[in-house]
Amino acid sequence: MARIEKIKIQNFKSYKKYSLNLEKNFKHIVVYGKNGVGKTNLLDSFTFFSNTKGLRGSSLGEVFPVKEEKKLNTKVEILLSLKNDNYNLNYEIINEEGKLKKKLSLDNKNVSIQEIKSFNNFIWLSPYMDKIMYEGQTLKRNFIDKMISQNNKHFSKLIITFKKNSSERLQILKTSKDEKWLDIIENKLAENIYEVCNIRRIYAEEINQLIDSKLKKFRGVYIEFVNDLYLKNNDRNTIINLFAKKLKEQRQLDEVSKRTNFSINSDQTLFFDKTNKFNTDRCSTGEQKSCLLTIILANCWKLKNENKEFILLLDEATSHIDAENFKKLFDEVDKFDTQIWYTGTNKNLFQVIDNKGFYIHLQ
Ligand SMILES: Nc1ncnc2c1ncn2[C@@H]1O[C@H](COP(=O)(O)OP(=O)(O)O)[C@@H](O)[C@H]1O
Ligand SMILES: [Mg+2]
Repeated sequence: MARIEKIKIQNFKSYKKYSLNLEKNFKHIVVYGKNGVGKTNLLDSFTFFSNTKGLRGSSLGEVFPVKEEKKLNTKVEILLSLKNDNYNLNYEIINEEGKLKKKLSLDNKNVSIQEIKSFNNFIWLSPYMDKIMYEGQTLKRNFIDKMISQNNKHFSKLIITFKKNSSERLQILKTSKDEKWLDIIENKLAENIYEVCNIRRIYAEEINQLIDSKLKKFRGVYIEFVNDLYLKNNDRNTIINLFAKKLKEQRQLDEVSKRTNFSINSDQTLFFDKTNKFNTDRCSTGEQKSCLLTIILANCWKLKNENKEFILLLDEATSHIDAENFKKLFDEVDKFDTQIWYTGTNKNLFQVIDNKGFYIHLQ
């Protein structure tokens, strides 16, 4: 049962100094107030504990308050309570020889994002993610890859290894063109691509099943990865050989274009809306939001089933979602037994939470 109990913020975007103590018994935290009061920034400040760019993809330079003199550092501290343990987490953004660096610590000892993620994840839904559902393949693939990486170190390492092997091959193509060396590296690459494709398909299968079994009241979505060379009926070695052959065929193309054209990015990612029976790209804005929510909630179920702790941040979840659907959402997330943050412009939007919520009015 993960909960934030205390927050202290210094010099984070619109916040110069802010602190807040939360009452222990509330798991639904509603942050409301007019446009621009800092609702999203508050949630954003938490996401830097589990991501390098936060909820809005901000660089470290964008975090410092624009009007402040750059003398003070950015510092965000939270007291996180998990089962019976408390964790004092903080990060500072400091200027080290002209370069901005984020330093994370746990009980005053240095800690990495990966270590923090091993005991708690921040999962969020924000308006900045809306475009995932209508803007083609890359965003969808990255979105799923990020969700997989959250919980699978091996997958993150595979992607790094792929990139390393890929640039090594491009270097060989540019210089020696050593056939033997190219064959070896292409085999490694083919294996990397296969592993990545395979993990993605296993993940999609699991999420699809969770959507079917746990989220029946929600909008039905189906995730599918498509790749002409990765056919389900073929065995691992056949597929790897096909991948290696493709890489070999494309040596000249890759050399000229200076990129690996057949890669982990050759997997097409499709989100299929079961009600409309077409891809989410063609759904209405509200339908797209519901589909996105379904996938995020299925991911939460996956974490819950694996006994992984997480805190859910729902930024503006009420926009584009009608009262009936918000009630469904509330009933669903209430099952997770973890802290859930909501933002919205008006307290009335959260009537269904009623006295179960802790309300923060930002002005
Ligand atoms: N680095 C920054 N310095 C100062 N203000 C910022 C910075 N980044 C964003 N802001 C401002 O913070 C304000 C609150 O933003 P936000 O939290 O997104 O509002 P909302 O309450 O509508 O979610 C906005 O006016 C935005 O321009
Ligand atoms: Mg906002």
